[in-house]
Amino acid sequence: MEQYCLRINGKEYVCLAEPNWTLLYVLREVLDLTGTKCGCNTGDCGACRVIVDGEAVNSCVIQVRNAVGKSIETIEGVAKDGKLHPIQQAFIDCGAVQCGFCTPGMIMSAKALLDKNLNPTEEEIREAIAGNLCRCTGYVKIVAAINQAAQMMRAESEE
Ligand code: FES
Ligand code: FES
Repeated sequence: MEQYCLRINGKEYVCLAEPNWTLLYVLREVLDLTGTKCGCNTGDCGACRVIVDGEAVNSCVIQVRNAVGKSIETIEGVAKDGKLHPIQQAFIDCGAVQCGFCTPGMIMSAKALLDKNLNPTEEEIREAIAGNLCRCTGYVKIVAAINQAAQMMRAESEE
């Protein structure tokens, strides 16, 4: 085992892990940050998506040693001061959650997009979540939720 220091949601975490363990495994099984989900464990479903240095990435295909020194955001850090992030609120308001298993990964993909672009086209939204599989909703409400979140965030930024 090696000791690793990871910066997650603005906090430093020190943990012991094997160098070839994935970031997903360390988040869930070592640090107990279980909001990030494991669907396929092969980089194909997006359930494990987190944001690393501003980019949405599948944490099941990143080795923990390659996450050192980077800024990692997980679903646990999205709500602030007990208030849901506009993306989370919009998913609720639009009925974009059914079983919920894909939702943390969807929200992280949406956040990576909206952190850079508060005025995305539907095509850009669909492109941002193209790697996130949802078996329940059919994507229409998810796209509507991300669009609504963008509107909410634009309104907040103009306040
Ligand atoms: S669990 Fe990582 S992409 Fe499916
Ligand atoms: S809400 Fe069930 S997989 Fe998306």
